[in-house]
Amino acid sequence: VTRVEQAVAAFRAGDPVLVHDAADREGEVDLVYPAESVTPDDVARLRNDAGGLICVAVGEDAADAFDLPFLGDVIDHPAADHGHLGYDDRSSFSLPVNHRDTYTGITDEDRALTITELGKAASDPASVDFADEFRAPGHVHVLRAAPSLSHRKGHTELAVALAAEAGVAPAAVVCEMLDDETGEALSVADAKAYADREGLVYVEGSDLLAAFGE
Ligand code: 5RP
Ligand code: CA
Ligand code: ZN
Repeated sequence: VTRVEQAVAAFRAGDPVLVHDAADREGEVDLVYPAESVTPDDVARLRNDAGGLICVAVGEDAADAFDLPFLGDVIDHPAADHGHLGYDDRSSFSLPVNHRDTYTGITDEDRALTITELGKAASDPASVDFADEFRAPGHVHVLRAAPSLSHRKGHTELAVALAAEAGVAPAAVVCEMLDDETGEALSVADAKAYADREGLVYVEGSDLLAAFGE
């Protein structure tokens, strides 16, 4: 069984997977879950053990069905900047949303509800009136995946590819793992040690790219 196969199996089971993009890209490890099955305890792990920004990557077809824009294209302010990323052509940020049944939107329960409902919506996009179910601004950042890994190789696309391989809805939570001591991105060595300690799968983006094709 390869590491990629282990990652796909874990993901299918609703277990988190650690994904490193590439040393010459962000060089970050994200904790990634299928959106559909996220629990409030999973949100607690994301904010306590990962510590970055909790986002949901959505596949392009679902994002189109929901008419979700790139945030950089719709912010009508001079701060909207399309060329700011040193490591990629564009940011994948779309709207930050809350499910309409949340209260403040930030609690573990509220974010788990928004995340699972995004997963449910992505599993059958045609049946969903997005604005009926979600409001923006909110506390969960939706990310729009590029059409394929040949177009973009971010955590956004790697997570959506993992979802496709696992046969779950094309929506996945991603959150950067940060180092509590330094505030920097968690090192690959420390991320691997965390995965070992917690019995989780760590996988390299390059291995996912090789297995899933570009
Ligand atoms: C949102 C981010 C993260 O890097 C996340 O991993 C998604 O972005 P990308 O697809 O560029 O890796 O910026 O917190
Ligand atoms: Ca922490
Ligand atoms: Zn990333």
